[in-house]
This record gives sequence, C-alpha cells and structure tokens, in this order.
Amino acid sequence: MLQGTPGRVSDFYDHHPINATRVLEALSRPGLGRPGPVTADDLFEFDQDHYGGLAAVDALARRAGIGSTSRVLDVCAGLGGPARFVASRRGSIVVALELHRGRAAGAARLNRLVGARGVTVVRGDATALPFVRSAFDACLSQEALLHIADKAKVLAECHRVLAPGGRIAFSDWIAFPRLGDRERTQLWEWMAATTLQTLEGYSALLGRAGFSSIEAEDLSAQWRPIVRKRLELHRTLRADGIARLGDERYLQYDQLHAFFVRLIEDGKLGGGRFTATR
Ligand SMILES: C[S@@+](CC[C@H](N)C(=O)[O-])C[C@H]1O[C@@H](n2cnc3c(N)ncnc32)[C@H](O)[C@@H]1O
Repeated sequence: MLQGTPGRVSDFYDHHPINATRVLEALSRPGLGRPGPVTADDLFEFDQDHYGGLAAVDALARRAGIGSTSRVLDVCAGLGGPARFVASRRGSIVVALELHRGRAAGAARLNRLVGARGVTVVRGDATALPFVRSAFDACLSQEALLHIADKAKVLAECHRVLAPGGRIAFSDWIAFPRLGDRERTQLWEWMAATTLQTLEGYSALLGRAGFSSIEAEDLSAQWRPIVRKRLELHRTLRADGIARLGDERYLQYDQLHAFFVRLIEDGKLGGGRFTATR
C-alpha cells in the first residue's frame, strides 16, 4: 500500500510551477499550435524538470548504454518527459516510476495525449521499487534523490532491480563543505531537499550498494549559468506567475528560487552525475 509522498515533498510538488496543466496551457499559447496531433516532441520544451534539458537526458542514456532492446527504469520520473524522450529516441521500453499522485497522473495524461509508445507510468516509491529482481537493464534518475532521506535504500533498490551488467546513471544536487546547517534546514523547508550528498559521498553509497565501475562528475560549473538563466526567465514571466499563483506564493517561490541560485553561485551547492555498473 502506498503511503503517499512524504508531507513536505508532496506539498512542494502540489504547488510546483511545472505541472501537466501548465504544460497543456503552454502548448495552447498562440503561435505554438501546429497542425496535426500533439507529439512527445511538442512537450519537451515544457515537461523536463531538471537542469540541462534534453542534452542532459541524452548524456545519461549514453552513459547507461541504453539501446533499442534496453528495459529502462526512470526513478522519480516527474511528468515523464525524460522517459518519453528516451523511449522516442532510443526505441527502448521505459517505466516511469513516480510517487506523487498528481505528477504520476499528469505523466500518464501526457502519455495518453501524445500516444507515447513504450512508456508506462507506475506510481511507487523509489525506496521500495515495485519490481522483481533483474527486471531492468538501466536505471536513470534526474534531480530527484535530493528529496529522499534514505539514498542508500534507493541505490540498493536500483541494484536489486538491475540485471547483472546493467547500468545506473543519475544526476542530483551535491553539497559542498561550505553549505551550512541553517542553509540545509532552509533547503528542506523550502524545497524539500534532504540528506544532500557530496560527490565522494554518493560514490561511497554506490560502492556500498554493490555497484562497480563508479564514475562521478562534477556538473556544478555547467549548472551555474543554467540556473541563473532559469531564474531570469522566471522573472520575465512575473506578471503571468502572479496571475497564476497569486502575489504571496509567487514571491515565496521567487525568494526560494533566488536562494537556491545563490547557493550554487557561491559554490555551496552544485550538481553531480554518477554512473556505475551492477
Ligand atoms: C525535480 S523532479 C524531477 C522529475 C524528472 N526526473 C525530470 O527530470 O523531469 C523530482 C521528482 O521526484 C519525485 N519523488 C520524490 N520522492 C520520491 C520517491 N520517494 N519515489 C518516487 N518519486 C519521488 C517527485 O514527486 C518529483 O516528481
């Protein structure tokens, strides 16, 4: 029985500015309409909730060695954008695992809209994957484990559901030594981020989960201009944001967004990409 997304994570995504309704609204903006049915490609500008867009998904898929016969699990799949991208570009079968009720429903709705082939949405918890041993050849995840306290459990679960020789490739926030306790508390309260790992910490967790050939890359320098640009874009859409969220929530979101960008620019927080073999 699903317990539901833990409170703060659930609350964060209940009010998140990226959601299925927003994606559909964005699609119907004047000038964006194309003749013919909506395809997965039409959604990609709006349905990715990580840094670096489709290139980042592609980089993970390449590192995970995903091909047309791969059985892929996207852990914490959000609205299913990365899963649809991998399935459409690589021809693989992808399961999009997502715990938040609204996001799982949104992912399924977008799948139906575009007739996504090869993508199934499963509502479930990354710390207790509802799959049998060796069910997948690759596990992917982007900017999501930050929400999960027991990261060791998620990695152990990925190890269990991967076939021998299968690959895990994921990206996530990483903490640097100057990230203070108050800032960590603030990140939990504002963005539902918890037990943030260092680059070395994640490598050690992967090793303890039984993975080999572990590689860790620091993406922080790449993320800096991306997060700054995202904040500026958000601010150019201020009037639209206020109309949608109301003054108070818009300002709250803007404040937490700016706080997050400052931590990255100050070198207290960053991004890491990790790959390893089962
Ligand atoms: C920043 S979003 C990333 C979504 C997707 N990976 C992407 O790049 O578009 C993080 C997602 O992790 C999900 N999540 C958080 N905790 C989870 C858990 N324990 N199990 C499954 N999904 C979870 C959230 O509901 C959210 O949709």
